[in-house]
Amino acid sequence: MADMKALPDAERPKAGKAANKFKQSIAAAIDKALAAAAPAEKPKTQTVAFDPSVPGRRPVVGHRHPIAQMIDRIKDIFGRMGFTVAYGPEIELARNNFEALNIPADHPSQDAFDTFYFADDVVLRSQTSTVQIRVMENQKPPVRIIAPGKTYRPDTVDATHCFMFHQVEGLYVDEGVSMADLKAVLTMFAREFFWPEVTIRFRPHFFPFTEPSVEVDVSCALCAGKGCSVCSRKGWIEFGGAGMVDPNVFEVVGYDAEKYTGFAFGLGIDRLVMMKYGIDDIRRFFENDMRFLSQF
Ligand code: FA5
Repeated sequence: MADMKALPDAERPKAGKAANKFKQSIAAAIDKALAAAAPAEKPKTQTVAFDPSVPGRRPVVGHRHPIAQMIDRIKDIFGRMGFTVAYGPEIELARNNFEALNIPADHPSQDAFDTFYFADDVVLRSQTSTVQIRVMENQKPPVRIIAPGKTYRPDTVDATHCFMFHQVEGLYVDEGVSMADLKAVLTMFAREFFWPEVTIRFRPHFFPFTEPSVEVDVSCALCAGKGCSVCSRKGWIEFGGAGMVDPNVFEVVGYDAEKYTGFAFGLGIDRLVMMKYGIDDIRRFFENDMRFLSQF
């Protein structure tokens, strides 16, 4: 380009044109080479082909809580022995939780059934025995009911205690009902609920609303009564309280204690389910851990 000046005037435009053309072709070749060396720009979104052979995602289907399933089972077993199901409120009159059950106000026997108070006379029920009072005040004998539901106590939470737990109450009142009937009904229940070879035993105990009163034990499944770590070497595991309805309770509800007798029992459902499945800690029922709950 610099030597262009030396050319005669007539040839200068022609030479200039050729030189420009050559210059442009070199620039174009450099651009092309640079473009080829640069990495290819990736498309913004990657499109994935639909693969019909990949398994689909299963929708999570829930199911009933193990305690709710066991309440159904309990209702079924007692239902076949002629017991109907009664329900009562969890927020109760203190009178139904205590006084009507022969537990006088300010009496030390209240301690065993201590509860949470809304007001002096309104509590969270600490036992399903409240339903006994409600049923008997509304129905003449014969009475044959069970009452499952939630109960509350200010107990310190540990492997076998919770501040909220479940009980099932049983009540049978008629002429001539005896302790032998109680034992027969609870034996039948335990055989159906646990295993057919089970035996039960009564241990003397005290409840203000039954006389005589017993605690009921079931023979340990793991050691067949010989004694192991599950039953603390006793061969027996406690599963509830029971007894013959105290005449003082009949008086409160207006039943003739000379004519009628009856038995009542109260079983801790959470502990029944723990025994049945060998669950070591009651808290597992209420932690909402799907790995535990989905096993049932
Ligand atoms: C009662 O509650 C009586 N109402 C039972 C009864 C009914 C006796 C009718 C006679 C006639 P007790 O306090 O022992 O009794 O409780 C019964 C069952 O509830 C216990 O055996 C236990 O299985 C369960 N239970 C009691 N407290 C707790 C708790 N904090 N957590 C889990 N289960 C409990």
